[in-house]
Amino acid sequence: MVYTDKDKKYRRYTVTSALPYANGPVHIGHLAGVYVPADVYVRYLRAQGEEVMFIGGSDEHGVPITIKARKEGCTPQDIVDRYHKIIKDSFAELGISFDIYSRTSSKEHHETAAAYFKKLYEEGKFIEKVSQQYYDEEAGCFLADRYITGTCPHCGNEHAYGDQCEACGTSLNATDLINPKSALSGSKPVLKDTKHWFLPLDKDEPWLREWILEGHKGDWKTNVYGQCKSWIDAGLQPRAVTRDLDWGVKVPLEGSDGKVLYVWFDAPIGYISFTKQLKGDDWEKWWKDQDTKLVHFIGKDNIVFHCIIFPSMLHADGSYILPANVPANEFLNLEGDKISTSRNWAVWLHEYLKEFPGKQDVLRYTLCSNAPETKDNDFTWKDFQLKNNSELVAILGNFVNRTLVLTHKFYGGKVPACTQAIKQSGNQAIDDEVVKELATFPERIGRSIETYRFREALSEMMNLARLGNKYLTDTEPWKLIKTDPERTATVMNLSLQICANLAVLCAPFLPFTADKMHLMLNLPAKGWQDAGKADLLMEGHTIGTPELLFEQISDETIQAQVDKLQATKEQNALNAWQPAEVKAPVTIDDFGKMDIRVGTILECQKVPKADKLLQFKIEDGMGTRTIVSGIAKYYPDPQALVGKQVCFIANFPPRKLKGVESQGMILSAEDKDGRLVLLTPSDIVTPGCNVG
Ligand code: MF3
Ligand code: ZN
Repeated sequence: MVYTDKDKKYRRYTVTSALPYANGPVHIGHLAGVYVPADVYVRYLRAQGEEVMFIGGSDEHGVPITIKARKEGCTPQDIVDRYHKIIKDSFAELGISFDIYSRTSSKEHHETAAAYFKKLYEEGKFIEKVSQQYYDEEAGCFLADRYITGTCPHCGNEHAYGDQCEACGTSLNATDLINPKSALSGSKPVLKDTKHWFLPLDKDEPWLREWILEGHKGDWKTNVYGQCKSWIDAGLQPRAVTRDLDWGVKVPLEGSDGKVLYVWFDAPIGYISFTKQLKGDDWEKWWKDQDTKLVHFIGKDNIVFHCIIFPSMLHADGSYILPANVPANEFLNLEGDKISTSRNWAVWLHEYLKEFPGKQDVLRYTLCSNAPETKDNDFTWKDFQLKNNSELVAILGNFVNRTLVLTHKFYGGKVPACTQAIKQSGNQAIDDEVVKELATFPERIGRSIETYRFREALSEMMNLARLGNKYLTDTEPWKLIKTDPERTATVMNLSLQICANLAVLCAPFLPFTADKMHLMLNLPAKGWQDAGKADLLMEGHTIGTPELLFEQISDETIQAQVDKLQATKEQNALNAWQPAEVKAPVTIDDFGKMDIRVGTILECQKVPKADKLLQFKIEDGMGTRTIVSGIAKYYPDPQALVGKQVCFIANFPPRKLKGVESQGMILSAEDKDGRLVLLTPSDIVTPGCNVG
């Protein structure tokens, strides 16, 4: 029995999660935004005994995949094969419990997507338009916007793409570019007529407005509702659903060679084709029965596609249900910076699983409790450590462990009798309180999950562990056993019941922990309806051996992750290095004022109490002079410099550095990593001669 859904009771649930592009692995941003919440939701519904189908899979079309293949000198199919496997395996290891995880390059998907297009085409649901697009005559094909570069008309950046200038952030049309160039052949593309099919979204405006803006006010999240409203208010335009490209689902019409369905047309049909793969002939009720609740879990960049464009495709067909809800999340940042695949600024799931074996639930917990439900949020490794050490270990793990250890110590692992609560003696007001409170948790957690407030649901679940800890602290069974064994039995019985309830109620969030708890309690699987009661474990029932549910994560482990990110940052800075801009012009007279000379190093040593400084004694042709230079870090063996020649400025006024008078400045070059390198003449010259 589910608790909410206002006036409607559904018979089954079709739950989808955005199909990730198979051109890179998944990271914590994907997980916190989409897959962890979706998995919590479906696990909860299953525990409620509901009929649920959870769909996932790889989105394997689109221009970026073809670009990546070209860069790596392989086929797009090679790229998607590689990442589909990494993504699918890592999801499985994290316990994301898809009923199917398929892919849009599969034959069944191509057939379903092509048939979907064909039906709408035959029913006249598209408009046909001929427009002019850039064509590469050398390569013999039309060019996707990403395959054209040129000069940005707004900022003059010469490397702008046909869809966007990354220097100034403006989104562009390929025809806006000055001096367009094909990224395929380097030649100048020409404009050529091409025919495409468009979904006339403008005609959908009235029903979309009514369905979303009136029908879903209040039950769709405000971020989702708000984005829909601004799209609709801005006026919807016809959208092209085909492209001139050779990677994707072929347009199933005569004479449309070289054309494929636009990736955002075929990908959401994946939800349907995967259902067919999973359910066979029985697929239709999952998509066409009004008693089916369709819910799309996505990130905020997918809102328009799932709330407006895909519904308009479903509506155009006419036989499909529309999504009941689209609980899109905002974005998760990493240590204060936007997660970025190209900058490698991410925590990759497959790497986490390797580096933190057996700690799937720690990541699930951290990401769920930090899910960017109403605004962008930040993941930090410090916070990850804190959530593990002071919540999972100190609250949940500690409560369960104390209870099970005491049960073994006092009762040889057998559940003691709960007598006092039954006897209604004066002592047990607190026991009654606990029993009463316990009863409220399943509904509280369930309500939060059903309204897509997963952070709140998780913290409610932890409140039950907190309640258990408080109960033990208040009653002190380890002392009570000496004076009142009968009441101690009641306290321990109730604590065990709380553990058993936690095993059921934590399962949507922490499935691996729930399995361990079931094993430790020797408790058969229970449904959500069984929870809330203090009778999950019978008197005399033998529990298993207690084991720690969670372990502390050390400062060193966290530091290693922080260091890894720091190294990424440094690498990115190196990759982004460019020579400094040339300074304002000077005259030969300006230059002539500088007295630059060559000298020979006679002595060199570290300046005491100054790690950065080296003190040089230089033969300068007139005698010797002392120069102090901040290059100690780059020349750890100062002795080795003796005898070398350097260039120095001879007419700087002397100044004191750490107590040493420096008579000039030695010249060095700063490399892109910040390293300073001394400038030495390519041949020996006479000390004191001029540089110019
Ligand atoms: N691949 C898209 C993304 O990562 C999501 C596709 S969702 C689907 O943004 F509905 F199109 F499948
Ligand atoms: Zn620009």
